[in-house]
Amino acid sequence: MYSTNFCDNICRRKIYCYFYKKLYNSELLNLNLFCISVRDKRVVVLTGAGVSAESGVKTFRGNDGLWENHSLDDVATPDAWIRDPQLVWDFYQARRNQLTQVEPNPAHLALGLLQSEIPDFTLITQNVDDLHERGGSSSVLHMHGELRTLRCEVTGETELRMTDSDLSQNFVNCNCCETPTKMRPDIVWFGEIPMFMQKIYQMVENCDIFIVIGSSGHVYPAAGLVGVASTYGAHTILVNYDLPVNADMFDEVHTGKAGELLPKLVTEWLD
Ligand code: OAD
Repeated sequence: MYSTNFCDNICRRKIYCYFYKKLYNSELLNLNLFCISVRDKRVVVLTGAGVSAESGVKTFRGNDGLWENHSLDDVATPDAWIRDPQLVWDFYQARRNQLTQVEPNPAHLALGLLQSEIPDFTLITQNVDDLHERGGSSSVLHMHGELRTLRCEVTGETELRMTDSDLSQNFVNCNCCETPTKMRPDIVWFGEIPMFMQKIYQMVENCDIFIVIGSSGHVYPAAGLVGVASTYGAHTILVNYDLPVNADMFDEVHTGKAGELLPKLVTEWLD
C-alpha cells in the first residue's frame, strides 16, 4: 500500500541517515533524521491554540490560560448562554474585538506557504480566530467555529458581523428572520458537536502525513485524530511547545515555539 511504502521509505531514510552521520561523525552535515519531502503527499494539518500564542492570543490551558481565569461552565456551554447570555456575550465580544488587534505570526505564514506548495492539503483548526486565513491559508476547517461570524438561533444561518456596532456590548440581531432575533456566537460549546466532522474523518483517514501544531490533546474528538491517522498508516508529526498528553502517539515530535520551528520545518519538508 502507498502509505506503508511511504513509512518504509521514511524508516529506511532514518536508518540511512543515522549510520551516515555515525560513520562521518559530523554535525556539520546537519542531517535531519526525520527530513521528508511532503510535496507530493496528502497532507493534513490540525492546529490548536498554541499556533496563535505568539500572536498574543491566549491559549486555554496552562498558566494564565483562558480557562484559568474564566469558568468553562459559565461561558462555553449552551446552558451558560440560557442562564446568563450577557456574560457569555461579553466573553466572546472581548475575543472578537481582540481579532482587530492581532496579526498572524510566522507559524501561520509558514502554513500558508505549505498549502500553496502542496496540491492535496487540508488545514483543520480548533481555533476560532481568523489568523490562518490572514496568514495565507484557505478553505480552513474551523471545527470549533469562528469568532468573525455570528449564528441565528432560529435558522442556523451564519453572518460575517465585524463592524464597530457588531463589536459593541449590545446583542446583535440577525438579518435572516422576518422579526430579527438575537444571534449567538458561532462557536462550538462544550456538549455540542464539532463542525465538518464527516469531512475531517475522511481527510484524516486518507492522508499520508498528519501534522498537529500547538494543541494540548485534551479535547476530543480533535485529540483522537492522531490515532485515526496512525491507524490508517499516516506518518504523524507533532510541533508543540511542550509534550502534550497524547505525545507518545506521534512518530515524530518537535518541541518548541511554533513560530520559530515551523518556518524551518516547512522549508525542510518542501526540499
Ligand atoms: P490548549 O490551551 O489546551 O493547548 C495549547 C497547547 O499549545 C499547549 O500544549 C501548549 O504547550 C502549546 N503552546 C503554547 N504556546 C505555543 C507555541 N508558541 N508554539 C507551539 N505550541 C504552543 O489549546 P487547544 O489544545 O487548542 O475548545 O484546546 C482545544 C480546545 O479546548 C479549544 O479549541 C477550546 C478549548 O476548550 C472550545 O472552546 C470548544
